[in-house]
Amino acid sequence: MYYGGDYNPEQWPEPVWDDDIRLMRAAGVNLVSLGVFAWARIQRAEGEFDFGWLDRILAKLHAGGIGVNLATATASPPPWASRAYPEILPKDASGATYWHGSRQAYAPTSPVYRRLAAELTGAVAERYASHPAVVMWHVNNEYGCHLHADYSDNAAVAFRAWLRGRYDDIEALNEAWGTAFWSQRYGDFEEVVPPRLAPYSLNPSGLLDFKRFTSDAMLELYRMEKSIIRAAGGTQPVTTNFMGAFEPIDYRSWAADLDLVADDSYPDPADPASFREAAFTRDLMRSLKPGIPWVLMEQAPDAVNWRASNAPKAPGQMAALSVQAVARGADGVMFFQWRQSRSGSEKFHSAMVPHAGTGTRTWKEIVELGRDLAAFPRLSATVDAPVALIYDWHNRWAVENSDHPVRFDYLEVVRQWHAAIHRQHVTVDIRHPGDDLSGYAVVVAPQLYLLTDASAANVAAYVAGGGTLLLSAFSDVVDEHDRFAAGGFTTRLGTTLGLRVRDFGALPIDGTHDTATVTVSLEGASVKGRLFAEELDLADATVIGDFRDGRLQGRPAFTSRKSGSGRAYYLATVPDEEGMRAVTARIFAGTGVRPAVEHLPQHVEAVVRDGHLFVVNHSERPFTPSSPFGRRIEAASEAGDTIAAYGWRVFGPPATS
Ligand code: GLA
Repeated sequence: MYYGGDYNPEQWPEPVWDDDIRLMRAAGVNLVSLGVFAWARIQRAEGEFDFGWLDRILAKLHAGGIGVNLATATASPPPWASRAYPEILPKDASGATYWHGSRQAYAPTSPVYRRLAAELTGAVAERYASHPAVVMWHVNNEYGCHLHADYSDNAAVAFRAWLRGRYDDIEALNEAWGTAFWSQRYGDFEEVVPPRLAPYSLNPSGLLDFKRFTSDAMLELYRMEKSIIRAAGGTQPVTTNFMGAFEPIDYRSWAADLDLVADDSYPDPADPASFREAAFTRDLMRSLKPGIPWVLMEQAPDAVNWRASNAPKAPGQMAALSVQAVARGADGVMFFQWRQSRSGSEKFHSAMVPHAGTGTRTWKEIVELGRDLAAFPRLSATVDAPVALIYDWHNRWAVENSDHPVRFDYLEVVRQWHAAIHRQHVTVDIRHPGDDLSGYAVVVAPQLYLLTDASAANVAAYVAGGGTLLLSAFSDVVDEHDRFAAGGFTTRLGTTLGLRVRDFGALPIDGTHDTATVTVSLEGASVKGRLFAEELDLADATVIGDFRDGRLQGRPAFTSRKSGSGRAYYLATVPDEEGMRAVTARIFAGTGVRPAVEHLPQHVEAVVRDGHLFVVNHSERPFTPSSPFGRRIEAASEAGDTIAAYGWRVFGPPATS
């Protein structure tokens, strides 16, 4: 179990380092991410490397028994680099330049940035590839975090090359993008520009490809650095830090290149539901690389600095969120950062060693958590998850384009489904529609607007093979180029569902918050629907709920069809979270999907990892188990155990009799 955080010794005089190592040992720290923003310290000018300080701190850490996740330090080029080579600076869609003076001011496609980053990575890797302290490599940092996309001339050149690779012939691009519309036809790849500021709505297929290109361009950078590390003889695991369901990067397409997945996670302590959102990202991280434990690479020990108001964590909340990550497949709990900075933009960001010192509650909790994690049993990454929830970056990019029947936040809807299932204490994996789904009792696929033929066939085969699918409104609408298929909607999954969607019936919204709703009957109960009230053409699906009001009163809203040895449900609207809970509970009932523990309050979560039951209380209210509970909880209640506010417990596998 890794325990530690980002360590930035370059911000401190060397005498502080010995104190750092003493305190790290006291806290049970066994891994630090070193040098993430140290480019300017390592390289004072082009060709001038200073590794003396890094040699010294690595030696001290090693002597202290602390492993190092060594950064390639390429995340923020120093001012000398952009002064000498202004072409490395990125531009926004209107052509304005992002200057140095903050961080991440580089164009990922700039050949000069790539050369400089490669030289730095090479120098660091050659020097430390076989250093005994180095146990992991931290490539760059949070790719794309601030610069979601670059629209510079470098990007234009690289985008054209990417498009040539994808389409080969410009006519294939014209066909894919539908450029017959609005006189957009390209005669040559050289005419294509990134989706820069334009008078009106940009070509949606072009926007989608630009998103793909941007994600791929950053992946190229990661791959470049990883291959330099390998060429220098570094055999340690290589990773970079993800940011949950971060929109600009398709982490699914990256995961194979990471030896282990690492995530940075900053749930808002002031939001009592943020632990549920955190559960979603932890499930996503686990699902990106099944079977391989991931690492919580960064979280805040207490408050952050970048919200409008930065609430501190409640006593115990930091540990509760950490144990949640472990329960959901993490084998490491790390923080940003080790010692609180005295200056700079993040001086108010909490740290493991707070500015106020070791007499603080934060420090005590850091020491306690280090001790508790060290006592954890070694567990496989297997988490019992009978349900898959579908989340696909390409679908997100396409479904959130403008000019659609109704605007909505895809991620928010996916998270609401996750939360609705999480409230039932059922664990889900987050999967892609092209993944092997055969192991799941139920697959929930919200707003699967963009669906490739291959993914559609995969989902249909899952149902035919005995799976239970819930698909909901605005699904199976376009192909991978954001084009309608010939012959209407639901053309690929219509047979499985036993219906076709005739129109989408957008409901009025007020800004980003949906307002108008429809009522859907659900076996005596009713569910509120929003965003869509679709008109369906039924072939051989059975109606299990209809619209109770609105334009489509009396028309089917919720259907079911047996297909092969499985079953496919279709829901022609987007329920609110309570409705999502009711709908999934109805579906789970027939499939044997059960909660990890019955009758838990909603603020207590229960997850089974490698036969061990984790119970975490994410609220200020203590929780005392009462019957009827599963055997492992009974053991706890017999022992008179109350799980304190933000407390947690881990129960070993039940004894086999
Ligand atoms: C990110 C970065 C860190 C730091 C933290 C602050 O995770 O990787 O360098 O800026 O945010 O929360």
